[in-house]
Amino acid sequence: MHKSATSILGMFLDSEVATLINGPVPVPNKTEAYEEFMGRHIDRMAMYSIKIARAYGVEDARTLNDIFFAALLHDIGKAYIRASVLNKPGELTLEERHHVESHSVIGSAIISSMKGWERISRAVRAHHEWWDGSGYPDELAGAGIPFPARVVAVADVFDALTCERPYRTPLSIPEAVDHIRGESGSHFDPKIVEAFLSVPHAKWEEIRSRANQLQSPLLHLYNW
Ligand SMILES: [Fe+2]
Repeated sequence: MHKSATSILGMFLDSEVATLINGPVPVPNKTEAYEEFMGRHIDRMAMYSIKIARAYGVEDARTLNDIFFAALLHDIGKAYIRASVLNKPGELTLEERHHVESHSVIGSAIISSMKGWERISRAVRAHHEWWDGSGYPDELAGAGIPFPARVVAVADVFDALTCERPYRTPLSIPEAVDHIRGESGSHFDPKIVEAFLSVPHAKWEEIRSRANQLQSPLLHLYNW
């Protein structure tokens, strides 16, 4: 069985599971980023996102499900971005930056073809929007950004900061939490940051380590 089958999206893409859903999912280019989005990043992201939403006070199943699937699928469009650009070590040209940024629109378009997934599609499109309106692709601002996208944005940056990258050492959880606090009101929704800050550092540590061990996050997620 493919290694990625340990993540929930990996299960969908695994050939055995794919046969059950009428054929394998086409894989356009297996880049490093593609492997990454199928891997632990999305598992952790989904769990962080639900934890943030719960700390915010979200209880209804529909919103939690939207957040969960938006977290799992937020970067699915990166599978369609050129590997040479995704893995480029130096600064990107303007054209390359636009190409990378198109992943949110592409991901959203892929999901929009599924009936009943319109809200998740909108959230995926908006996961790089900023609270102050300086994000992309639509320069949405404040409450104009779908709520699940605002939650996922915090979880995405938090996970990116606390993970190993070729060009930097990971931040500690307290350092990453400080970074999120510093971007309240500019990048992030202040109320969502407030909810995020209400979660003790030890809980983030625990979630991270549990997410890295889970075989099937979907089964465990709502306990967080
Ligand atoms: Fe993204």
